[in-house]
Amino acid sequence: MGGFQLLPEQASTVAGQVDALYFFLIGISVFFSLLIAGLVVFFAVKYRRRSETDPAPAPASGGTALEIVWSVIPLGISMVIFGWGASVFFKINRPPDDATEIYVVAKQWMWKLQHKEGQREINELHIPIGRPVRLKMTSEDVIHSFYVPAFRTKQDVLPGRYTQTWFQPIKAGKYHLFCAEYCGTKHSGMIGWVYVMNPTEYQAWLTGGIGEGSLASRGDKLFQDLACTNCHKVDGSGRGPSLEGLFGTTVETEAGQKITVDDEYLRESILSPQSKIVKGYQPIMPTFQGLVTEDQLLQLIEYIKSTGKPAAGKAPR
Ligand code: CUA
Repeated sequence: MGGFQLLPEQASTVAGQVDALYFFLIGISVFFSLLIAGLVVFFAVKYRRRSETDPAPAPASGGTALEIVWSVIPLGISMVIFGWGASVFFKINRPPDDATEIYVVAKQWMWKLQHKEGQREINELHIPIGRPVRLKMTSEDVIHSFYVPAFRTKQDVLPGRYTQTWFQPIKAGKYHLFCAEYCGTKHSGMIGWVYVMNPTEYQAWLTGGIGEGSLASRGDKLFQDLACTNCHKVDGSGRGPSLEGLFGTTVETEAGQKITVDDEYLRESILSPQSKIVKGYQPIMPTFQGLVTEDQLLQLIEYIKSTGKPAAGKAPR
């Protein structure tokens, strides 16, 4: 049976923690199943009616002490499960600030991945060992689910909005990537590989074969091509607001609603510009629904983000 594995490899930082909790749950279930089944058999034998003439015993009722015991013990155990589960859940759902961001677009039936540096992959993801990676994901059509068993990572990928997940690989190797949400006839073929590489290998991979420039620079080009610059002038003199350094700031609408400029808001403003217009501007922007793909939306957002980081040593434009 060499090579037989009940569980996939533990290849990310949370994998061990997820498994520990899982085995704890199994342990508790096995313990109580055996205890209860054992007692049923034991009592059935011990207290059986030994002869037809024995009187039937009076039915028992009450037993406050016993009831307290069998309420308090399960409560305690449930609270341990709750506390432990919540702590693992929060860990899985809170990416560290320094995580490398990678964009995922799912469609029937493939995974498209874009790195900030410019690499694009299909059904393959190359990442370095030991560094946290955050995935920002959306779908072009139906609901998919990004599932890497070795990382104990599973996150639904939804059309029309961004979801995220993160992991930190701890073991170099090649791991299965699955779609874990039934998404049509070729759902089972929507699979791929995650390659966890050591840093030097990864650097070599990263510097090889970038023809199209970084994600932000592609967004920049798109921004020009779509003529966004006609209205969104850098100095703010255009008919639309300047987008320079806008990401992460708070804007106010005519109705007084305060909005933090994040990926969702930018996405919405490109696809349905009329929904939340910033105070002092006219609702004149046309929709770009159908004109830009999900990949391109991510490039545009990445570009707008890139204008807002003077600390990164970007020359003002
Ligand atoms: Cu995509 Cu199942």
